[in-house]
Amino acid sequence: MKISVQDCLNLINVVIEPLFSDLALHLRQSSFIAFYIARNLQLSDNQIKNVFISASMHDLGLLLKNTRSDRLVTADILNGHYVNGLEVQHEIMMLNRISNSLSVPENDCTLINDIVYFSDTFELYLKSQDKDYISYPEILVNDFFIQHPAFRQEIVEAMKRLALDDVFWLRLESTNLHKVLQRISPLRESYVTLDDLKDICLILARIVDIHSSFTVTHSTSVSRVAAKIASLMSCSPEQQKKIGIAGYLHDIGKVYIPSEVLNKEGQLTRKERALMKKHSYKTLEMLSHIKSLQEIIPWAANHHERLDGSGYPFGLRAEELDETSRIIAVADVFTALTEDRPYRKGMDLPRAMDILETEAEQGKLDKLIVNVVKRNINIIFDCVGRIIPE
Ligand SMILES: [Fe+2]
Ligand SMILES: [Fe+2]
Repeated sequence: MKISVQDCLNLINVVIEPLFSDLALHLRQSSFIAFYIARNLQLSDNQIKNVFISASMHDLGLLLKNTRSDRLVTADILNGHYVNGLEVQHEIMMLNRISNSLSVPENDCTLINDIVYFSDTFELYLKSQDKDYISYPEILVNDFFIQHPAFRQEIVEAMKRLALDDVFWLRLESTNLHKVLQRISPLRESYVTLDDLKDICLILARIVDIHSSFTVTHSTSVSRVAAKIASLMSCSPEQQKKIGIAGYLHDIGKVYIPSEVLNKEGQLTRKERALMKKHSYKTLEMLSHIKSLQEIIPWAANHHERLDGSGYPFGLRAEELDETSRIIAVADVFTALTEDRPYRKGMDLPRAMDILETEAEQGKLDKLIVNVVKRNINIIFDCVGRIIPE
């Protein structure tokens, strides 16, 4: 599995777009501006990569500090939200590691940081202006620097040169900017390690779990439980990491389910149940945009399928469900039963085990995997309910 940094950015975009469309657009536009400035200043390839990734992720740390993914939060994030790019780099381990691996000299970090800060401020300024950039770009840019005189001269000059570039403005306002970014990205051939990918997926799992506030540690717990079962079944460390990643991603389709339905106490209506059931199909749809994740997509998306064909969305049967999909399904049920919810305590272990064994008897869950859980119930239960990964 070879995952590029650009694939990771696409994955992040796929998850935050439905929840925070303004923020997703802000990240796209500011990374585009930052990239053009860096290129215009003829920075080195590594510097350009660093500018691009820093600008693409500069607000994610903030997103995690919000306890709820209420759509209103977006406006707060966009107003006065700037956080020093380097601080965020420290907060997101992955970004830090990639930045280090791109080995940018320390003095360059200030320039990179300034470009990200400029792009961020300039993008917010553009939002506050008349949308018709193309008819008066030079005036727009001049006015910006009159209002914001503190930017370093080389950035001011680069932006003034870009003001004359029609393609810059056409691309910036294009509704297909995400495709443009994928095409021009300097990060299509920079690859992440499985550990980096796991860190990114943890961030995404936390965003999804916050959206579903009744199960605020669910995806992170499923990831840990599934990886633990895999280790007890002697899967290789690499396989365990991939299973953990699939666990983090299994419920990302929930970002399309209204939080009133996700967080409803008590019985769901027929309509709400139907809505809720959509989420695993949405997981499949969202992940299918990232071709390089092909190997783990079915593991994440099949978690509500059952061996006897009674699951959803496809009603797959035993012969179509590989061992890893089965592990995630068992991990999902075990976690859902034993995790605490605001309106009820998690089920005690003997009762949860009874339910798992009944489902295995009925031919829904894999007996062998359920037995692994039974034999190691305490170690596995230790994986439920914490946010911080091992
Ligand atoms: Fe699910
Ligand atoms: Fe789940």
